[in-house]
Amino acid sequence: MKHLAFLVYLQDMAGTINIISGKRLEDVAGLLGGGRKVYLVHDAALGDAAARLAAFVDASLPVEASEENKNMDTVLGIDRWLLSLGADRTALVLACGGGIVTDMAGFAASVYKRGVGFAFIPTTLLAQVDAAIGGKTGVNLDGYKNMIGVIRQPEFTFICPELLGTLSLRDFLSGAAELLKTFIIDDGGHHYAAAVETISAIASGRPVSACMAELQDLIAAAAAVKAGVAGRDPNEGGERRKLNLGHTFAHAMEHCARLKGDDLAHGEAVAAGMAMAAELSEKIGTAPKGFADRLKRDLRACGLMTGCPYGADELIGAMKLDKKAEGGLIHFVLMAGIGDVRIVDMTAEEALSLLP
Ligand SMILES: NC(=O)c1ccc[n+]([C@@H]2O[C@H](COP(=O)([O-])OP(=O)(O)OC[C@H]3O[C@@H](n4cnc5c(N)ncnc54)[C@H](O)[C@@H]3O)[C@@H](O)[C@H]2O)c1
Repeated sequence: MKHLAFLVYLQDMAGTINIISGKRLEDVAGLLGGGRKVYLVHDAALGDAAARLAAFVDASLPVEASEENKNMDTVLGIDRWLLSLGADRTALVLACGGGIVTDMAGFAASVYKRGVGFAFIPTTLLAQVDAAIGGKTGVNLDGYKNMIGVIRQPEFTFICPELLGTLSLRDFLSGAAELLKTFIIDDGGHHYAAAVETISAIASGRPVSACMAELQDLIAAAAAVKAGVAGRDPNEGGERRKLNLGHTFAHAMEHCARLKGDDLAHGEAVAAGMAMAAELSEKIGTAPKGFADRLKRDLRACGLMTGCPYGADELIGAMKLDKKAEGGLIHFVLMAGIGDVRIVDMTAEEALSLLP
């Protein structure tokens, strides 16, 4: 355990949120054992990581990490696998992969025998700062994202930035949008500027492996912000809504992309969604003039897009499908500055009519 760099421990109504950081993947061994059987569910593309974990687990199941495969059939496949191995209620399901794998395996564990323990080793930047923290797990239903799921905390989330070295630049930058989002919501630790500096260096060609020390700090800080927000508001009744900054627009863009067969990564949509939210913030008056331009400059320096590829007429239908809308009103997260956001309720039509 001597490599474990930090521990965030929050006790709240949702249970305990444990985020533990290690330098090497093998450091997770210190968190396992105690006579419990460990069932590893891993991204099929991460055979190397699975091989490195083989000595510490009792059985391994590769799963394909795609949105098409993120469904109940895969969840049932994981649960049938657990059943076939005689997994009992003391089992620990260890999920190693990006957000698709942690969402699916966490959900499968949450419903197997009315819930067995699970833990995460997130392998993408997006999962390390977002998907693997906060306890939301679930799968898609009939093309609608994350329609079936539960909120239940993993026993621990083990974050190992070393794993990010093999990510494609596109997947890295997609996660970087969520990292920036976190500090736009809460920059109490003054990490936003450092995040822009590190990500723009990587976007300009600096290898991820050359930025490990900076990334370790940034990921730890972002993970702590997410854990703090999720711990204080596990069921998304208030503060947790802030984490949706840029996401109302992003989900609408992703819906349009699916309909048109366009290739749009989640973080790309989140970056463009944050740019739209910044424009809206200026129009409504929560943010000062010039704020949107400054944010867009930073996002572009980080290799992220700031223009929405779809028109208001295309976005409107998808925004009305927003599962977080209540009585036609959407909780928009608007900005007053870096580290300062607020929720403003309005209809999709009102919001889009204010945008250029
Ligand atoms: N539960 C939550 O709170 C929450 C929050 C945000 C997003 N999500 C979900 O997360 C999912 C997206 O997660 P993601 O962006 O991590 O995507 P992902 O799991 O699909 O991973 C992206 C790609 O990277 C590959 N990959 C993963 N780790 C790698 C590594 N270390 N090296 C090389 N390649 C690697 C995967 O095989 C995949 O091709 C979505 O389904 C989204 O709904 C959940």
